[in-house]
Amino acid sequence: MSSKTVYRARCLRGSVALPGDKSISHRAALIAAIASGDSQLVNYSPSADCQSTLRCLRALGVSVASWPGRVHIRGCGLHGWRAPTATLDAGNSGTTMRLLAGLLAGQPFESVLTGDASLRRRPMRRIIDPLSKMGAEISAREDGRAPLRIRGTRLRPIAYQLPIASAQVKSCILLAGLLAHGTTQVTEPAVTRNHTEIMLGQFGARVEIGDRTVAVTGPAELTGREYRIPGDLSSAAFLIAAALALPGSLIRLTGVGVNPTRTGFIELLQSLGAPIQWHNRRSWQDEPVADLVVRSAPLRARRPLTIGGEMIPRLIDEIPILAVLATRIEGGVTIHDAQELRVKESDRIRTVAENLRRMGARVQEFPDGLHVPGPQSLRGALVNARGDHRIAMAFAIAGLMAEGETVIDSSEVVDISFPGFFRTLDDLVVR
Ligand code: S3P
Repeated sequence: MSSKTVYRARCLRGSVALPGDKSISHRAALIAAIASGDSQLVNYSPSADCQSTLRCLRALGVSVASWPGRVHIRGCGLHGWRAPTATLDAGNSGTTMRLLAGLLAGQPFESVLTGDASLRRRPMRRIIDPLSKMGAEISAREDGRAPLRIRGTRLRPIAYQLPIASAQVKSCILLAGLLAHGTTQVTEPAVTRNHTEIMLGQFGARVEIGDRTVAVTGPAELTGREYRIPGDLSSAAFLIAAALALPGSLIRLTGVGVNPTRTGFIELLQSLGAPIQWHNRRSWQDEPVADLVVRSAPLRARRPLTIGGEMIPRLIDEIPILAVLATRIEGGVTIHDAQELRVKESDRIRTVAENLRRMGARVQEFPDGLHVPGPQSLRGALVNARGDHRIAMAFAIAGLMAEGETVIDSSEVVDISFPGFFRTLDDLVVR
């Protein structure tokens, strides 16, 4: 394991195209694999998580060829996968495990899905319950954790009310619904990322999208196609935060996905006066895309800034970097209703609080969030990312803002979502 030392930077300058969106890449690979015919996925995410999805598909007999930035998948149809001869390994990727489980639940064979130590600690009852209602037989460890043994069956459609706002659970059920005979409907308590439903329509499925409700009708007939994946806004968020915080910065991020179910972080910062401009707005397969231009600026809230409720799913993955940036926001930031952060790749409420404290910041931890007062200064420290990619990147950005030297332990974890993160930073940083 290698550590990375980060020093204070003057500012960020330059233009970058981000790697493909992780959430969209997983979905594109899985859906292409059950479509008929070939699919070309352009700008497929190079992240280790999205490689885990491809690895599982290959183990299911799907022909997958990949080149940098491009993946070719030969679709097998809904029931063309072959029984795996070994346990399927989703690595660190919750999206791989939860979405793939939906498709495996409707296959005429048994499979076992596992992952690394972090993924084996994460809750899976949330997908076991609805898939069992659809008729699948799934066994897990006692507390509903992976490994999952899935005995596929002919699935029944269900109407399901999600108890938590989770795009992974919603997508798991919708993918299972493609294999069921009839209409499967999912209702969510708050709007979550809607890439699955958009993409299913693009591949030819019958999908109805309402306000917080999505329905698919199976058995679906999907047709392979070319799919161009927008740059990952959740990766862009780290660069955006650095550019805002370091005076004199000016960066341009090209071809970034700006689906409104994902733009909570940008809208929040714009409401504080952040000069984030969207240029050249366009749409790739119904996914909104733009080039973002970001300049540094002081960030001020008119009243103490508290976020919670429906905003949380729209910026869930950006909360670690938002907490770091909060040290530069007059009045600071309070976050509530984000208890889901406790069951991500690490307990992100705890890891954010722990590392902000290591850097000399004051922070208050709640069961469902954090309060970070601002403005306050950071000093370099040894950061313990606890194997969590977004914590490593958030605190690398904190290191650019801090006095002295910041050391990120096991910095290679950034490869889980953003290989090349440190190279990209080196290219943009002006000292
Ligand atoms: C994701 C959904 C979110 C998010 C994760 C990716 C997806 O998780 O945090 O990084 O691709 O559907 P939950 O569904 O658990 O909220």
